[in-house]
Amino acid sequence: MYRADKLREQDKTDFYPELGNILTALLGDEKDCLANMANFTGLLFHQMEDVNWVGFYILRGQDLVLGPYQGKPACTRIAVGKGVCGTAALGEETLVVPDVHQFPGHIACDACSRSELVVPFKFQQIQGVLDLDSPRPNRFSQADALGLEALLAMLHNHLDKNKRG
Ligand code: SME
Repeated sequence: MYRADKLREQDKTDFYPELGNILTALLGDEKDCLANMANFTGLLFHQMEDVNWVGFYILRGQDLVLGPYQGKPACTRIAVGKGVCGTAALGEETLVVPDVHQFPGHIACDACSRSELVVPFKFQQIQGVLDLDSPRPNRFSQADALGLEALLAMLHNHLDKNKRG
């Protein structure tokens, strides 16, 4: 059972390693990619302050298709190159968007969202982006980008190590 107390997020240098410790325990010896991705979003949604949406979009052909997430129902399909998610996927780089209203072509899934962070990933056969939205402008920093890239790397390593035979 998940029993972690709510962490304090103020000090990012402690927050992300602590989150990493909880993630390690949560992943345990579970091999299933989808289950681990689902719990990954649950952990972030529970532990991060001021986030209204956390989830994965998975690359299928030329579209990113909605994967495991926490938050309000969202758009199911985003073309590569469109919106923040599609732009991050196309450029294969993390995007920190302080004000989504200033991002040309931003796709509004939740009218409350004001800032966004999108991190591309690639593990096993699955490629896509991790998307986080916040109702607070300028919610995400470079430290969040680095911290989330590190957590995704942990998930990647876990899946690699525990590949089904
Ligand atoms: N805002 C994203 C779309 C996904 S939702 O935020 C969940 C974008 O512009 O790509």
